[in-house]
Amino acid sequence: MNEQIVILDFGSQYTQVIARRIRECNVYSTIVPFNTPAKEIAAMSPQGIILSGGPSSVYATDAPLPDKDIFKLGVPVLGICFGVQLLAHFLGGKVEKGPKREYGKGTLRVLDPNCALFDGLPNSLQVWNSHGDKLTRLPKNFTVVATTENSDYAAIEHSTKKFFGIQFHPEVVHTPRGKEIIANYVHRICGCGKGWTMRGYIEQAVEEIRAQVGKERVILGLSGGVDSSVAAALLHKAIGDQLTCIFVNNGLLRAREAEVVQEVFGRNFKIKLQYEDATALFLKKLKGVTDPERKRKVIGKTFIDVFQAATKRAGKAKFLAQGTLYPDVIESVPIAGNPAAMIKSHHNVGGLPRGMKFKLVEPLRCLFKDEVRVLGLELGLPKEIVWRQPFPGPGLAVRCLGEITRDKLRILRESDAIVVEEMKHSGLYYKIWQSFAVLLPCRSVGVMGDERTYDFTIAVRAVESQDGMTADWVKLPYDILEKLATRIINEVKGVNRCVFDITSKPPGTIEWE
Ligand code: XMP
Repeated sequence: MNEQIVILDFGSQYTQVIARRIRECNVYSTIVPFNTPAKEIAAMSPQGIILSGGPSSVYATDAPLPDKDIFKLGVPVLGICFGVQLLAHFLGGKVEKGPKREYGKGTLRVLDPNCALFDGLPNSLQVWNSHGDKLTRLPKNFTVVATTENSDYAAIEHSTKKFFGIQFHPEVVHTPRGKEIIANYVHRICGCGKGWTMRGYIEQAVEEIRAQVGKERVILGLSGGVDSSVAAALLHKAIGDQLTCIFVNNGLLRAREAEVVQEVFGRNFKIKLQYEDATALFLKKLKGVTDPERKRKVIGKTFIDVFQAATKRAGKAKFLAQGTLYPDVIESVPIAGNPAAMIKSHHNVGGLPRGMKFKLVEPLRCLFKDEVRVLGLELGLPKEIVWRQPFPGPGLAVRCLGEITRDKLRILRESDAIVVEEMKHSGLYYKIWQSFAVLLPCRSVGVMGDERTYDFTIAVRAVESQDGMTADWVKLPYDILEKLATRIINEVKGVNRCVFDITSKPPGTIEWE
């Protein structure tokens, strides 16, 4: 990994999007806290620096400011949004509160067609803005490159040094040609090639894993989800039989899940797979438990117990592998005025269970989810695994409301299989975030043929989301809804009613428990 762009994070909700866009240009990018010392940045030998956006005002007393020596490193700098205001603040310009906030779509007029940032682009571009403060005087030796309706300094460039600033957000989809602007920055201005590819990463990661692990053995908890599956395939490529994967069936898996994992990893990949069927134990521990939090706790604790016992059976191993991804690793810095920066998903439980003395191997820790998927395909994993929808750790338990029984799980599993099948059939399964069935804990009256029924209700949930933090319910076409309801009620014994969940997040959560 020779070339890289370093992004200083000033707390924008889009910082990670910038990093991903750069990597889509086949250039490696790293996010570091805004106050990282210039010396540390220099030691990373970046080809370019980007100052991200952020919620602050440069004149606020608690404004996040970078080490001013970053401008002396002789490395190109691009300031985005708040980042351009920082350029002005440090290099002799002026920033003021705009008379009105510029938010949403705007039209950029490029005045200087020779500016490398806009190379190959038309001189009128749709861009997306989100800022209150704006530049009112250019920093020294800067010229105006582009304007918008509301901003005379929408893009600026230093006359001799490779310093650039843009007021709008090139990283978001609402700036349709933004990716080309970013590509111009990394390739034309910073001179980066296209060395960052998942094919290349495999070679590099394989070497690193071998160097770290040596002749020792590694254990990996395989859940069948994307991250642990890709980690398993990568580790297997690197160290073969030194890897043992432990797959725990907690009895809360979906239809055919345990079979698919054994088929793909055991039979196709010939990975050493230790299959632990702990269904009976989990169901015993869950007997009588109805409170959602309690369910999660019982499942979490039972899992650790089962996994710990399984690792002992697996034999002596020095390392435990985990499919940790880059977003979990990025150091989040508290930025004044941005409470969102502090919110971390409650599901990201990191670290090892107490008492387990392993060293960690985390071969995906510098990758974003979309990169992990590409990597998975490169490693030969099937699309069904690589593009699987997210599935919660506690499994069907959080979709089986009230007390969990084998029969309720059967009903839920069969209904869910129909939802998955029909969603795949319609082509929507891989386009949306999640689609699944939920079993409600009460019965209602119906008629089937001449008979009165008194059976359960299945709720169908389908949501669109970028990251699971917020979500919209999917407006499924009526014919799909009709098919789902008809099939579930006809084919699943114990169900006589089907409803569709039209709650977004917030205020609802995606899962029901
Ligand atoms: P909620 O229900 O909080 O879910 O809106 C957001 C996303 O997280 C998934 N989820 C979980 N994932 N362990 C997990 O690994 C859990 O306990 C858990 N609970 C929810 C959920 O499927 C959705 O994608």
